[in-house]
Amino acid sequence: MNRRDFLKSTALIAATSTATAMDKSIHLQIPEKQDTTGNTKLIDSAPMLQNYAETSMGIAFSVSRLANGFVDYSLSPDMSNSKRVMCGGYRINDVNDEVMRIRLTGLKPATKYYYQIGAHGIRYNGYRDKELTGTETDPKVYSFTTAGKKAKAHFCVINDTHMKWTPFELCLDKVAEINPSCVIWNGDANNNVDSVEEQKTIFLTPKIKRKDYASDIPYMFAPGNHDGRGKANWHMERVWMFRQPEERLSRDWDLGRNFAVRMGDIALIGLDTAEDKVDTNPRLMGMYNSHAYREAQKVWLESALKQSEIASAPFLVTFCHIPLYDPNPKMNPGDIMPADVDDTHSPDFAVWQRTCAQLWTPILEKAGCQIIITAHQHKFRYDEPTKDRKWAQIVGGGPHMPAATSNGKAEVFPTVIEGKIENKKLKIIVHNILTQSVEAEYTYNPRKV
Ligand SMILES: [Fe+2]
Ligand SMILES: [Fe+2]
Repeated sequence: MNRRDFLKSTALIAATSTATAMDKSIHLQIPEKQDTTGNTKLIDSAPMLQNYAETSMGIAFSVSRLANGFVDYSLSPDMSNSKRVMCGGYRINDVNDEVMRIRLTGLKPATKYYYQIGAHGIRYNGYRDKELTGTETDPKVYSFTTAGKKAKAHFCVINDTHMKWTPFELCLDKVAEINPSCVIWNGDANNNVDSVEEQKTIFLTPKIKRKDYASDIPYMFAPGNHDGRGKANWHMERVWMFRQPEERLSRDWDLGRNFAVRMGDIALIGLDTAEDKVDTNPRLMGMYNSHAYREAQKVWLESALKQSEIASAPFLVTFCHIPLYDPNPKMNPGDIMPADVDDTHSPDFAVWQRTCAQLWTPILEKAGCQIIITAHQHKFRYDEPTKDRKWAQIVGGGPHMPAATSNGKAEVFPTVIEGKIENKKLKIIVHNILTQSVEAEYTYNPRKV
């Protein structure tokens, strides 16, 4: 062996043994003992898959006390050759007593992975009086499939769930029946939330039977106006993590909620319409900065649409909470200065978002976006494309479950909106959750790419 080969092979051995040692050290240095403190369960929720993407996956779960959480993942259902990823990022793990957030990165696109969650409990009474109290693992093996060009193009949308558990449960039963590749939660999951406990109730421990609703189906989040309200919601990333920074340019790293994800023949775009009041409205006390946020998203959107996997997708579907069009000229368009009130519009908050429409829809239209799926109005509506507006808009239903009238129809009802590819066309099915029937179906041709 010459010197160059020798150096190469020793470097390889060193790298291999370091990696092995690191893997082992994580497993060996932490005693996997039973918790003897008599405490209640350390892990007190099923895992939630957050931020569907091609090469990463966020996994969050709730803990009842101080913990250092982890995810073991594998390509095999028997968890052979599994890798362990601890919560948080560099230097110190994200040890906390509320939510474990683990990010799996470097995944293969359109690939099925199996995973298990666990956490090391920690008793902490000052830095010099701390100990591990035991390791708890959830014995169940869950799975997910990453996004990508070869992924199955099939999504569902839920919106305006507002902690109304009966319609929420019915919507999730429908989602489970459909079993899509991902779900887009199109905003207003919250009301106004001041505590992380309440946020956990919404996303991780909802008051429904299907506690593992997001353990095998990944979720995306397009926030609504209510999702930024309340002391806890000012930092919702503690419960629903931001998207991975490498999904976007460094210029856009603060835009942790926007997504541009390829799923089979569909490119999914997520935008955040932010508050439904202007920043100058005294009720917001100067605390919100929606206008600059919307402008920054315009710049992000221009770049996102040029990404090759997005630009080449036959179908382009956009999701945002507040509608970008309303047929009624009297509806408040969200740009009435300085306090959302004038003589010709009602109510005193945005029913639709003209500023976002002006910033984003010319770019989306130029890119051939076929449909924009929105929410916020709590009433299903379909706006056909016109000569001047090339895209269709669907407004999803809300959380109200009124009694149906004698003809079996109700004015308002919750919806689950399903999208899939059938015969090389995009098919959208609107499921009426009140009547448990199909409310409407639409079909779209591929855009010119
Ligand atoms: Fe709402
Ligand atoms: Fe809303």
